[in-house]
Amino acid sequence: MKEMILQTKVLVCTYEEMQETDKKIVDAARAATANSYAVYSHFNVGAAVMLSNGTIVCGTNQENAAYPSGICAERTTLFWANSQYPNEAVETLAIAARTENGELDVPIPPCGACRQVILETEKRFGKNIKIILYGAKQCYIIEEGIKALLPLCFDADFLE
Ligand code: THU
Repeated sequence: MKEMILQTKVLVCTYEEMQETDKKIVDAARAATANSYAVYSHFNVGAAVMLSNGTIVCGTNQENAAYPSGICAERTTLFWANSQYPNEAVETLAIAARTENGELDVPIPPCGACRQVILETEKRFGKNIKIILYGAKQCYIIEEGIKALLPLCFDADFLE
């Protein structure tokens, strides 16, 4: 039997160490948490994407009394961005979260369903998405795209 090692490179940094454009996208995600509708979990998530034309689009988690009918901030943002700008590639995605106690110190990673949608977005535009996970004390930057967070992923290639 052979072994296959799947590696993920994550850059660890503070907000202050980020480049200015990344800070702008992260700031948009942080600000968006104020618009989150999280009346059940009280976990306010904001996401922001920068598109190939430089536009920054934000979104938040939208919960529902029928829990599964709610949706995460990442998917809200990607679906909104791709609906408004169907021809602009998504280049960067930032995610931030806040509870009643304020911003989280640690980075918030996207859930499995959102990872799959990020993958689809990469395929759609033929471009990897830089992912920035914000935490007040520490941030993660994944430069190589969603495959780093979703190894052995299922995509349209298998449908051919
Ligand atoms: N949530 C997000 O919006 N994004 C994530 O990456 C993780 C979880 C939302 C879903 C739900 O509204 C709340 O956070 C608690 O799970």
